[in-house]
Amino acid sequence: GLPSRVRIHEVGARDGLQNEKATVPTEVKAEFIHRLADAGLTTIEATSFVHPKWVPQLADAEDLFPLLGDLPGVELPVLVPNARGLERALALGARRIAVFGSATESFARANLNRSVDESLAMFAPVVARAREEGVHVRGYLSMCFGDPWEGPVPVAQVVRTAGALLDMGCDELSLGDTIGVATPGHVAALLTGLAERGVATGALGVHFHDTYGQALANTLVALQHGVTTVDASAGGLGGCPYAKSATGNLATEDLVWMLDGLGVDTGVDLGRLTATSLWLAGRLGRPSPSRTVRALAPD
Ligand code: HMG
Ligand code: MG
Repeated sequence: GLPSRVRIHEVGARDGLQNEKATVPTEVKAEFIHRLADAGLTTIEATSFVHPKWVPQLADAEDLFPLLGDLPGVELPVLVPNARGLERALALGARRIAVFGSATESFARANLNRSVDESLAMFAPVVARAREEGVHVRGYLSMCFGDPWEGPVPVAQVVRTAGALLDMGCDELSLGDTIGVATPGHVAALLTGLAERGVATGALGVHFHDTYGQALANTLVALQHGVTTVDASAGGLGGCPYAKSATGNLATEDLVWMLDGLGVDTGVDLGRLTATSLWLAGRLGRPSPSRTVRALAPD
């Protein structure tokens, strides 16, 4: 069976814009987030408090966050890798953070300049402190299916790091297919492996990049396994500057088109969302990679 409702965790302003060559003006980012909220999205990842040299595209986090104001009913999670990032986020009043680990050593090195275990040790005090402050913590786990340096990633290896993030106190865990190589059978195998380890499906989200066009098929299998939180990016923007061959995320419009067709509620107005992605594509100077956005675009 399928759930009656899916919570979309919108990552366009973070995963999408972190990967754009051109720097997007802070005011445009703020307008983007406001338009996403107007389209009915209620969890909108806003930016990252990472080292500004590592991700210059999001170096304006301090300027952006206050521009967002109070959006009633909307959560604005932000990425935080370490204690310095948490301080910056708390100083601005962030109420949801996300740490981001890796199932593979190669990506942990490339993305965090640390081994897997060293990065877990970096996150532990961040998660503890955030929870003391009553801040909700998401744990991302990257390279859950394949890694550009190491190839296919064994389920047992993913289950180990997933367990470590949950045991540390993460409220939810997002399973990342960072380079978009997963296929539906692999998704089923990982979700089964996590369930066997006792991980509650309600604590899981899925985060598919769409490199091989499998993101929707993978999402459908995850929903059939009881997952109800799905990450997606308006217009299908996205990618990770530290993972070669990562392309855009599952487009939120493609996801909403499928879920509307299945009668699964998301609360999202597809027309407004598509208009937002077309507007942003105009600002970025290139067409949206989303099939649904292009199909619904006025000619
Ligand atoms: P490092 O070079 O090892 O940093 O980078 P460090 O801990 O040695 O600190 C060096 C200096 O940086 C210090 O300054 C720190 O204060 C400063 P100094 O004392 O030398 O003057 N510093 C900071 N400044 C501002 N904000 C901070 C911060 N931290 C340290 N937060 C670090 C380690 C984690 C900082 C770095 O590797 C980093 O910023 N990485 C972020 C990479 C990133 O954002 N990647 C994209 C997001 S992950 C993703 O896209 C995948 C996902 O979508 C899921 C999926 O698809 O799988 C989530
Ligand atoms: Mg991603």
